[in-house]
Amino acid sequence: MSSAEYVLVTGATGFIGAHVVDVLLSRGLRIRGATRSPAKGKAMRDARPQHADRLDFVQIADFSEPSSLTEAVKGVDAIIHVASPFTYDTKDNEKELIIPAINGVKGILAAAAATKTVKRVVVTSSFASVLDADRKERANGVYFTYTGADWNPLTYEESVAPTTSAVIAYRGSKKFAEKAAWDFVAENKPAFDLVTLCPPMTFGPVAHPVATPAELNESNAMLWKVATGEKPLPVARVPFWIDVRDLAQAHVEALLRPEAGGKRYIPASPERFSYGRAAQIVVDHFAWSRESVVPEDQPVDESHGVDGATAAKALGLDYKTFEQTVVDLVGQAKKMEEKK
Ligand SMILES: NC(=O)c1ccc[n+]([C@@H]2O[C@H](COP(=O)([O-])OP(=O)(O)OC[C@H]3O[C@@H](n4cnc5c(N)ncnc54)[C@H](OP(=O)(O)O)[C@@H]3O)[C@@H](O)[C@H]2O)c1
Repeated sequence: MSSAEYVLVTGATGFIGAHVVDVLLSRGLRIRGATRSPAKGKAMRDARPQHADRLDFVQIADFSEPSSLTEAVKGVDAIIHVASPFTYDTKDNEKELIIPAINGVKGILAAAAATKTVKRVVVTSSFASVLDADRKERANGVYFTYTGADWNPLTYEESVAPTTSAVIAYRGSKKFAEKAAWDFVAENKPAFDLVTLCPPMTFGPVAHPVATPAELNESNAMLWKVATGEKPLPVARVPFWIDVRDLAQAHVEALLRPEAGGKRYIPASPERFSYGRAAQIVVDHFAWSRESVVPEDQPVDESHGVDGATAAKALGLDYKTFEQTVVDLVGQAKKMEEKK
């Protein structure tokens, strides 16, 4: 589609969603943000007084409750569905991660299909729904590259098993939610088309209401741990990442470019990262960090790659450097801390 005017963004008060809102606003579109918390919606709006006439919020208390979804999709011509639980601090993975992720996608798509107006839905999936954690071993040292054709082979049973870690269960939540989206479109042939984005770890400055570094989202919290001298340094499970500003642009281009319809993209920087490299960047740029942060030469996994080039070409992305991303987030978080 190329002519969206009014876009529903779920998860609009979150790390990625708020940047998506800002890119849409900068393109002159009208946005309805969805949140469980009207207070967070108000905070997002109050922080953008110049856009008050093009930004409203709707409450979706529960994605499995069709009535609020019907209200939320009324009158919009496109949807960017970002909302999904992203936390590793869980007691019951199926209840807290997997079911809400799947219900969110199913609920939004069913509500969208019941309208005549929605022409495209973009779903924020994750590299977690692409990654096959055992593939390296099977490749026997032969280099391979992940593409948008790859799917995480996790089964639902493995994802929800009580012995499964929240990290693995989160991967399941993203796989089964994204799969539900593609299945919905194949089975129901709605009037809209679907684009899914599968970004890896996403870092960068925040645009959503965050007052202190303790409130940072899961991925940025890792960089802040590095900047505050956590020892030992965290170890990246996957060496791939993207800046949140590039990812927000990817969402908006995925929404507006007609030829993106029906595609699954992996927006990802060609540069690999490690938390050791993040520590070196912090020390190089911030004198206040030098007493506590000790950079480490962490090995970076070069055994396989990811195809971020297809998304870059199709969506017109020019990936930021890891250095810029770390400096922008850490500088911002430090200012928040000083204001406390
Ligand atoms: N950050 C990353 O590294 C990364 C990488 C790849 C993919 N992703 C995906 O990107 C999306 C956004 O992640 P984020 O990093 O921006 O996380 P975030 O800051 O935690 O934002 C997630 C948003 O989703 C909503 N949400 C969370 N749990 C929910 C639930 N149980 N029911 C309904 N809404 C819920 C929340 O909105 P309200 O509280 O306002 O309702 C929240 O603002 C997720 O789909 C995540 O899987 C993130």
